[in-house]
Amino acid sequence: MRLVLVGPPGAGKGTQAEFIAAHLAVPKISTGDIFRANVSQGTPLGVEAKRYMDAGQLVPDEVTINMVRDRLAEPDASDGFLLDGFPRTVPQASALDKLLADLGTALDIVMELVVDDDEVIRRLSGRRTCRGCGKIWHVEFDPTSKTDICDRCGSELFQRDDDKAETIANRLVEYADKTAPLVDFFGAQGKLVGIDATGPVEDVTVRAIDALRSYGG
Ligand code: AP5
Repeated sequence: MRLVLVGPPGAGKGTQAEFIAAHLAVPKISTGDIFRANVSQGTPLGVEAKRYMDAGQLVPDEVTINMVRDRLAEPDASDGFLLDGFPRTVPQASALDKLLADLGTALDIVMELVVDDDEVIRRLSGRRTCRGCGKIWHVEFDPTSKTDICDRCGSELFQRDDDKAETIANRLVEYADKTAPLVDFFGAQGKLVGIDATGPVEDVTVRAIDALRSYGG
């Protein structure tokens, strides 16, 4: 299955992507994770992306599309994938459709995680991420047993640079301006399914997997 997860910053895309990708046995491809890995390795791509990420802005389409094209050409993505955080603009969505059409395939489903801005702010301001295994935690909603130590692998947790209040506000504006139009774009293709992403993580996962079943997933 070829699936895209879309939703505002903090909707729970990364959290749900892990469970859904495991359920579908496809690779999870997160453009945010790829950018962050490049930032921490200090690559030219990372240096360029960091300027935009720190400001809560989207990285330019051309850079992002080329990066995804390379990633989708890897063998593990040939039979399916879950894209988390891409596409995020109408030009990215058109480029993805074209890229897949050239490969003789197409997206199966675009799942929108629906939450309001107040919940997003609560989630992002308490998010912590593991430096070792990448697991996402929350100080209130999904706390570790020892402060800032991952229960899964024992590594230290960190707070993302773009989870500061001012940057979160910019990311929400970028989402409304550039990403929300994808709901109409994919709705017009009959590929969009929206799910309520509020409530406990496990309940959201059940809703997501139920929705996928009706598409054969
Ligand atoms: P990216 O990493 O994709 O950030 P984002 O879309 O803003 O999404 P987040 O990762 O912040 O949130 P999420 O929805 O994954 O939520 P999570 O599961 O962590 O992108 C970062 C930056 O990279 C962008 O700003 C941009 O600059 C650049 N970029 C990336 N892709 C790009 C693209 N395609 N084009 C251009 N630029 C791009 O959950 C959040 C918190 O909530 C966690 O603490 C979690 O534990 C908690 N939580 C999750 N679910 C629940 C629940 N049900 N109840 C309570 N708490 C919950």
